[in-house]
Amino acid sequence: MSTVVFLGGGRITSAMLAGLRLAKTKHRLIVHDRNPGKLRDLKERYAVAVEPDVSRAVKQADVLIVAVRPSSVREVLRALGNVDRPLLAVSLAAGVPLRLLSKLAGPPLQWARAMPSPLCRSGRGLTAVIFPRILLRANRKRVHDLFASFGQVVEIPESKFDAFTVIYSCSHGYHALATLARTGQAAGLDRNTALLVSAHALADGIIAWRDGKHSLESLLAEAATPGGIAAATAAKMDAAGYGRAVRQGVAAGLRRAHANAGK
Ligand SMILES: NC(=O)c1ccc[n+]([C@@H]2O[C@H](COP(=O)([O-])OP(=O)(O)OC[C@H]3O[C@@H](n4cnc5c(N)ncnc54)[C@H](OP(=O)(O)O)[C@@H]3O)[C@@H](O)[C@H]2O)c1
Repeated sequence: MSTVVFLGGGRITSAMLAGLRLAKTKHRLIVHDRNPGKLRDLKERYAVAVEPDVSRAVKQADVLIVAVRPSSVREVLRALGNVDRPLLAVSLAAGVPLRLLSKLAGPPLQWARAMPSPLCRSGRGLTAVIFPRILLRANRKRVHDLFASFGQVVEIPESKFDAFTVIYSCSHGYHALATLARTGQAAGLDRNTALLVSAHALADGIIAWRDGKHSLESLLAEAATPGGIAAATAAKMDAAGYGRAVRQGVAAGLRRAHANAGK
């Protein structure tokens, strides 16, 4: 068992704590945040220890998780003061590269990066991790095992991390659901029915692919009779720029990630 300290008690920390509790983690969990109300709430919901003083929080850490927004990373790392022992630290901050983290925090902190999503709350998450070459194998395993407690973990090079971050967002699913359901309502369905059929159309199709028995091409072909309704709908969506809209959205996300690197 080790002590995992979260700096930042916001959305992703809350989701990770839920996932860790679901997995019956043996780690001791401590959260530091500058908002006393958030600390009270997390303590109540997840039975974690809370620590309003950042240096006292860090003194207890075996693993430090930096879970503040990219624009707050500099500030929170400055507030750590002098860390006088090697400490494994994992940054969740989207777009902020390892070289900047090392520069901001100095040598005692040994960095990895991780990109989970709020889906870790359900234990069905996916997390990408980056390890610098110098990080010890034992530390890689500690990071891997922590995130594996709430889903699959994939290691990818840092050069591909922003692309992973932009594509791997459960907001794509929620966004598609909201758009399809709104369109269903406009076509005459009541809101609940529109949400229900949209959720089945999107999620069940994707699960059918994830089960791994059929290729995406064969599923696409099976679901759309040539000349039929689904084929007409998909063809019109493509012609209206569905692919272009997704590409433009992803490009905007990548630009935002690159901007974070300079924060
Ligand atoms: N949300 C996600 O799905 C997700 C997924 C993967 C990675 N991430 C990454 O995780 C990080 C956190 O995202 P989030 O959505 O959880 O953000 P969030 O909900 O805004 O949570 C961040 C928390 O950190 C606090 N904080 C900021 N600066 C602080 C400081 N100097 N000292 C103490 N507390 C401080 C914030 O307080 P204030 O509100 O007062 O600033 C807030 O309570 C981001 O870097 C993001 O890129 C997020």
